[in-house]
Amino acid sequence: MTDIATVGAFRLEDSAVNRMGYGAMQLAGPGVFGPPKDRGAALAVLRAAVASGINHIDTSDFYGPHVTNALIREALHPYPGDLVIVTKVGAVRGEDASWKPAMAPADLVRAVHDNLRNLGLDVLDVVNLRLMGRVHEPGEGSIEEPFTALAELRRQGLIRHLGVSNTTSAQVAQARGIPEVVCVQNHYNLVHRADDALIDELADIGIAYVPFFPLGGFTPLQSSILSDVATQIGATPMQTALAWLLHRARNILLIPGTSSVGHLRENLAAAGLSLSDEALARLNTIDNRGAR
Ligand SMILES: NC(=O)c1ccc[n+]([C@@H]2O[C@H](COP(=O)([O-])OP(=O)(O)OC[C@H]3O[C@@H](n4cnc5c(N)ncnc54)[C@H](OP(=O)(O)O)[C@@H]3O)[C@@H](O)[C@H]2O)c1
Repeated sequence: MTDIATVGAFRLEDSAVNRMGYGAMQLAGPGVFGPPKDRGAALAVLRAAVASGINHIDTSDFYGPHVTNALIREALHPYPGDLVIVTKVGAVRGEDASWKPAMAPADLVRAVHDNLRNLGLDVLDVVNLRLMGRVHEPGEGSIEEPFTALAELRRQGLIRHLGVSNTTSAQVAQARGIPEVVCVQNHYNLVHRADDALIDELADIGIAYVPFFPLGGFTPLQSSILSDVATQIGATPMQTALAWLLHRARNILLIPGTSSVGHLRENLAAAGLSLSDEALARLNTIDNRGAR
């Protein structure tokens, strides 16, 4: 089994997380709504992730809603001492599975308490404020009111650290002026590189960058160059895409999502891949369709 420690760890203030983590969103039912098809399989993925050395799990109470948090609690509580569970607030689900912004201070208080209760925690390790922007792309605008509300919950001891998701550079700067930001979670992968400058900016100031949709999310990555390079190095395209992210910058932490133990193991094996300068150069030529 791959030793994920080979790709190192990154410090989120008082805790160090392995750069290879796990995103739990895929454990809910279709459309991230309702229960999983196979509850036992979902619990097995979570237990296998932690048994493999993963100590960074990404979730939200709006996955399901409540479903992934309940699965995490059932599979892993009482939690290992080094496990960092990162959640996000800022949206709720409609009865039709829609995603609705919920950024008022009272919504955020409710969301933080929902996460605490459903995860079975007294304090949340990291809470990302998920800005609704343009669905999976950020949009400018002040975040002072919602971020100040989260800072107050942190002051009360309900949250250890804060992050921002689906954010612009200006919004990160604004959030840093309120309390602190330990991580940024935005849409980024081999073919969607709009955040190249932001990643470098955050690396310089020691803030983690956690790409969501590292494998393309609901539209799996597809590229003939990616497939060619993968064949050359004896890996799958998904593993190669994850290895590219690990090479891209030291502050990138991975949270690929999967509902299968087989895919989880394949993804972890990306930690053992090395990419030659030639392979990296070829991967870097892949069309940057996501550029803003
Ligand atoms: N902040 C935000 O707004 C936001 C938005 C989206 C996601 N997220 C977080 O980011 C995490 C990662 O994003 P994501 O799960 O949406 O997308 P992703 O990691 O890019 O891709 C997940 C998809 O890839 C498939 N997959 C995973 N490993 C594979 C493999 N080795 N071979 C082939 N297919 C594979 C999964 O299917 P199987 O289940 O069949 O493996 C699933 O359909 C989420 O779990 C969530 O925690 C955050």
